[in-house]
Amino acid sequence: MQIRLDKYLADMGIGTRSEVKQQVRKGQVRVNGAPVKDPGQKVAPGEDLVEYQGEAVVYAQKEYYMLYKPMGCVSAVSDRTHKTVMEYITCSRRKDLFPVGRLDLDTEGLLLITNDGALSHGLLAPGKHVEKTYYARVTGVVGQQEAECFLHGVEIGDETPTRPARLEILSQEEGEGGWVSEILLTLTEGRFHQVKRMFEAVGKRVLYLKRISMGTLKLDETLEPGEYRALTEEEVSQLMGAGQGKGKEKRNGEVYEENWNSYRQP
Ligand code: URA
Repeated sequence: MQIRLDKYLADMGIGTRSEVKQQVRKGQVRVNGAPVKDPGQKVAPGEDLVEYQGEAVVYAQKEYYMLYKPMGCVSAVSDRTHKTVMEYITCSRRKDLFPVGRLDLDTEGLLLITNDGALSHGLLAPGKHVEKTYYARVTGVVGQQEAECFLHGVEIGDETPTRPARLEILSQEEGEGGWVSEILLTLTEGRFHQVKRMFEAVGKRVLYLKRISMGTLKLDETLEPGEYRALTEEEVSQLMGAGQGKGKEKRNGEVYEENWNSYRQP
């Protein structure tokens, strides 16, 4: 595959298309050691050596980062008021990176940042039912009643109830402010404020929310809020398999996905 030199440089974040054209015309760019002044010259990523101001510019088609999103920033590419998640990805100059899905301003945890639109679609498309697991601290005593309720789907004010979700109770403790439960909740959809609205629907309030996994990807426990790292090749290829659909089973008139069978309470 060959692409235009100005596209190659712009894709790698050297500047806008018109800025890099100027840089090429000024003689700032060499291809295989020779100065090139034609921005339209074709180059082969991975084969030709492209240098900008004496430094090699390696063409990476797709980039994948796992960010431990901290609270207080928005899951958007730009925002007038708040810091965006993109501002944490300081190692890349690419302009086409974006967050895969959203976490609320006050939610923290795993956020994938990439320029791979197909992967993003595979992970977010409603029909793909990719699992996302959240850790939360919730007011009150959360128990089997809520687990049953979430497993069967709960009305949260949308056209349809939520899809079956698996609730795991980690602890229930009474403190000065009353009872607080720690839970893990696994969803296969991503509606607006879904976790908070599901708990509201059963009379509870989410005090703290953190996403710990998305499909096969788990939040790296060595990351602190605000830190990120590139995904490994293995993580990327596993993730690409994650959105490819799962078998379905019909039981009692309801459809369950294969891997949700074990989520039924005894
Ligand atoms: N559910 C929520 O309520 N908020 C999030 O940020 C993610 C899931």
